[in-house]
Amino acid sequence: MPLVGFGTWRLTGRDAYRAVRVALDVGYRLIDTATMYGNETQIGEAIRDSGIARHELFVTTKLPPENAGRERATIEASLGALGLEHVDLWLVHWPPGERTLVRTWQGMLAARDDGLVTSVGVSNHRVAEIDRLVGATGEAPAVNQIPWAPSRFDGGLLRAMRERDVVLEGYSPFKNTNLRASTLVDIARRHAVTPAQVVLRWHVQHEVVVIPKSATAARIGENFDVWTFDLSSDEMRAIDALGR
Ligand SMILES: NC(=O)c1ccc[n+]([C@@H]2O[C@H](COP(=O)([O-])OP(=O)(O)OC[C@H]3O[C@@H](n4cnc5c(N)ncnc54)[C@H](OP(=O)(O)O)[C@@H]3O)[C@@H](O)[C@H]2O)c1
Repeated sequence: MPLVGFGTWRLTGRDAYRAVRVALDVGYRLIDTATMYGNETQIGEAIRDSGIARHELFVTTKLPPENAGRERATIEASLGALGLEHVDLWLVHWPPGERTLVRTWQGMLAARDDGLVTSVGVSNHRVAEIDRLVGATGEAPAVNQIPWAPSRFDGGLLRAMRERDVVLEGYSPFKNTNLRASTLVDIARRHAVTPAQVVLRWHVQHEVVVIPKSATAARIGENFDVWTFDLSSDEMRAIDALGR
């Protein structure tokens, strides 16, 4: 799974198509969508028009929990809209009610066993909910996609995910960040990059998958350009401390 992907929430219609084309052109290979985003058709078109081989891409979509009980029909609709034979990762968008939590997970696993998706995971789930899924099925989600940013850094939660072999995929890296915070601005200046790039690099060095969204071509490029500098361990700790 790539460590930096492209988020597509609130990108619809031609904007979604254009943004994903730019993202694929500058090098992103992970595209994050959801049934709820209403943009799977445009993302599928952008993928086809990019000419990039399917095996190079990592496509994620998500089951709206109100579709619990209709897992199979939902993933078939997503695949139809995307024009793909499988997605690489399918997530439960947020926990369905207490009573349907495990049954929904079993529906996800069945779709995986039938080859419609390569891996299944969850989003917005608490550790206790993940433990319930594992207890009932013996299968841990491959991924938990949750809000993550310096302001939300939680080393205990990161460890809890690692102990369970669950990849932490962070969302909304910027929405929950003050990009003018002096810690970020000072570190950015030292490396001649932007505070946004510092935030993304911090995710990468923690091996937390990050999926920034942008509708702006220049920012889409900026957000993927995080491979040529290294944050020192002191800088990493200073950014972690923004979570206190
Ligand atoms: N599983 C879930 O429940 C869940 C929930 C929320 C999000 N997500 C996923 O995570 C993705 C990312 O989260 P998000 O869309 O909430 O927010 P985000 O990526 O944290 O922030 C997007 C905002 O930041 C701006 N931005 C982008 N790059 C920037 C840069 N380099 N400098 C300054 N500002 C920048 C964007 O503006 P412009 O577009 O104008 O450039 C946009 O307003 C979503 O698109 C979605 O795929 C999942």
